[in-house]
Amino acid sequence: MIESDIKAKLSFSDGTPDIDLPIYKGTVGPDVIDIRKLYGQTGKFTYDSGFLSTASCNSKITYIDGDKGELLYRGYPIEDLAHNCDFLEVCYLLINGDLPNATQKKDFEELVMHHTMVHEQMQFFLRGFRRDAHPMSVLTGLVGAMAAFYHDEIDYSDPHAREVAQIRLIAKMPTLVAMAYKYSVGQPFIYPDNSLSYTANFMRMMFATPCEEYKVNPVLVRALDRIFTLHADHEQNASTSTVRLCGSSGTNPFAAISAGIACLWGPAHGGANEACLQMLNEIQANGGVEKIHEFIAQVKDKNSSVRLMGFGHRVYKNFDPRAKLMRETCYEVLNELGLQDDPLFKLAMTLEKIALEDEYFVSRKLYPNVDFYSGIVQRALGIPTEMFTCVFALARTVGWIAQWEEMITDPEYKIGRPRQLYVGETSRKVPNITVRK
Ligand code: CMC
Repeated sequence: MIESDIKAKLSFSDGTPDIDLPIYKGTVGPDVIDIRKLYGQTGKFTYDSGFLSTASCNSKITYIDGDKGELLYRGYPIEDLAHNCDFLEVCYLLINGDLPNATQKKDFEELVMHHTMVHEQMQFFLRGFRRDAHPMSVLTGLVGAMAAFYHDEIDYSDPHAREVAQIRLIAKMPTLVAMAYKYSVGQPFIYPDNSLSYTANFMRMMFATPCEEYKVNPVLVRALDRIFTLHADHEQNASTSTVRLCGSSGTNPFAAISAGIACLWGPAHGGANEACLQMLNEIQANGGVEKIHEFIAQVKDKNSSVRLMGFGHRVYKNFDPRAKLMRETCYEVLNELGLQDDPLFKLAMTLEKIALEDEYFVSRKLYPNVDFYSGIVQRALGIPTEMFTCVFALARTVGWIAQWEEMITDPEYKIGRPRQLYVGETSRKVPNITVRK
């Protein structure tokens, strides 16, 4: 962090002396005002519910310019990465800070592909779940349970122990997601095939059966690989902040990632892709394109809680660059499968057009986000709706562990401990039960 020559001056109207607060500059993006000594100097906290103006850490991993619609992983634009790199290269980049050369790429692929199998006992743990449980609840449990199955390296101050945990997570997530799916449909688990690419292996574990081998289609593998890349990291979003906060206590990394998965599940976050497809299905079932205006009127009605899912973002206020790439992928996949006339895709495009011309969405700077089209692509690939957020979790795992590693190795790292503005009762005595109201 580079300290700026400019200082922020904070004045109070009650006679408390003014204080100067240091300002730090990033390489790009807004400067930050350092308030760490504020409480010590003034006895006051800052109030920022929802973290609208708070930088919780400094980071070198991902940069977003919400006004420009720019997303960089380690300085590389997402468009460039999506067009020129595969997901494992992006994983290497996020963890190590630079893209791999040819040897590093091969070594990394081999390392990941030789950790794809999970402890055999994990399937018995999985069998304890109801088959109709939501796969995100199952995945939260499975990844949390990795802390029990892989607790041999407990000293996470050791870089090697951390690397082992990182590789295990990247390698085993596809296996666990596929196991959660197979269990939900009552099919036998398919073991990984390490001769396939990371993404092709995942698709095979999802869709092959012991009776029928899965034929890998390179266009579809590329599409899913791109979905992984687009979801790999997104700076300090809710689930990443959850992983950092949880991990800041020094807990087991599998437990911290499990907390991130739980957070991601919510419909305002990763659960939006599932909610978006459900929304499109409902509009379609109620009359399709003809009913869009009625649906939009409901969204705009202050008395209804209906939201246009897959629209809006806390940071992007111009466009979400991932949504553009996802739309491109959507065309590729539907063409490949001969589904150009897919009614849901047509409905989504019409809905997007109508919303983008509507004053309500324009004035609030609401644009399609990555989840608006990702559900249509995943559905075309044969992934069931309830599995969408698991696919997101699989992809985001690398971002979570890169952020966890960055936090653990930050010399300024402390356990996360926000404060509060208390607005409850002041101290009072417990009345005898006979006189309580
Ligand atoms: N549909 C209708 N109105 C909306 C929407 C929407 N999708 N999003 C925001 N608004 C309105 C909101 O009602 C409010 O209006 P007003 O000022 O009149 O009260 C205004 O826009 C600001 O909304 P906010 O909730 O204060 O904004 P936020 O930054 O806290 O929320 C968001 C961001 C993503 C939670 C929200 O836009 C949303 O709920 N979108 C739908 C869910 C979704 O697609 N989430 C996926 C996000 S991208 C994937 C990921 O990173 O997880």
